[in-house]
Amino acid sequence: MNEHPSPVRFAARRPPPPIAMLAELTHRCPLACPYCSNPLELSRASEELSTEEWIDVFRQAADLGVLHVHLSGGEPASRRDLVALTRAASGFGLYTNLITSGVGLTEARIIELSEAGLDHLQLSIQGVTPDKADLVGGYAGGYARKIAVAGWTHAAGIPLTVNAVCHKQNMDEIEDMVGLAIELGARRIEIATVQFHGWAERNRAALMPTRAQVEATTAFVNEARKRLAGTLVIDYVPADHHSRYPKACMGGWGRTGLNVNPAGRVLPCHAAETIPGLTFDNVRATPLAEIWLEGAAFNAYRGDDWMQEPCRSCERKHIDFGGCRCQAMALAGDAAATDPVCIRSSLHASLAAAAEEDGEAEPGPFVYRGR
Ligand code: SF4
Ligand code: FES
Repeated sequence: MNEHPSPVRFAARRPPPPIAMLAELTHRCPLACPYCSNPLELSRASEELSTEEWIDVFRQAADLGVLHVHLSGGEPASRRDLVALTRAASGFGLYTNLITSGVGLTEARIIELSEAGLDHLQLSIQGVTPDKADLVGGYAGGYARKIAVAGWTHAAGIPLTVNAVCHKQNMDEIEDMVGLAIELGARRIEIATVQFHGWAERNRAALMPTRAQVEATTAFVNEARKRLAGTLVIDYVPADHHSRYPKACMGGWGRTGLNVNPAGRVLPCHAAETIPGLTFDNVRATPLAEIWLEGAAFNAYRGDDWMQEPCRSCERKHIDFGGCRCQAMALAGDAAATDPVCIRSSLHASLAAAAEEDGEAEPGPFVYRGR
């Protein structure tokens, strides 16, 4: 039986301030990716925080000690006040990173963002050809817009990272993705294998890579990191379900970062609302610092008192923090269970077998988000 630790006990330990805040400015998005990581139930436009409310959140974040703010979505360019929000966040001394599909950005807007103090832009790329990229994103003309956005970003002097979500249908092009990132002037590429949460679960057979693809990608990344040192930094998120140990999701719950969703609810991770029984405070009613330090949801899985065996006595518990709470909830039915990706979980074998089976399956058509 899992007993959740009391918020009061943890509040007394005063966790250090979060390093990063993900500001989900809106859930509106023109794309329809079949692996969308946003919640199945999206916040409506009418619920979104106003410009003034977001600016106050940024002020509170800076006061709390946050260093980086990731302006994200949905598609953050869908917010008309994106430049004003960037200017405000930058004015509070926050490092600003725009995470975007590029759709909704123009050359003039990128220049305005640069003048507003945007520090960095992270652009998603769904494939190396227009046909593939637009098929995956579910948006005709998206590829051409991304290439243009990369050029305008480079010209404006804003450092660029390319975010390449990879899966069964584009993993074999990973070398070309890296080549494209270099061509576009990126300093960094994030090769992130699809995580099977939320919408991606509906497309498992279309997205799950084979073990051979995963092994080839890992070998390529190891080789390319050496060859491209000084030209391109490669971040790599390997395929979770083919791994022996889980990822340290969010760097540990309530440890290094927080998310503010479009309606102002403050979450320990983007999928935290899938865990029943947790209650989430809203910045419209409670100061951000109080939520971080004393919020019930943040303290539910902070530290290691909540852990069960085998995590509780495992030597890796301060490396991966027992994996992902949301994945444990989805796959084991208990958010305090060991993430079933872990080889020490009794569910690991069936998870790995299902991944092998879906990896080998003939991909059917995508089930697009929002269609
Ligand atoms: Fe990590 Fe828990 Fe597995 Fe140990 S048993 S490796 S802490 S998930
Ligand atoms: Fe919620 Fe991993 S997505 S803890």
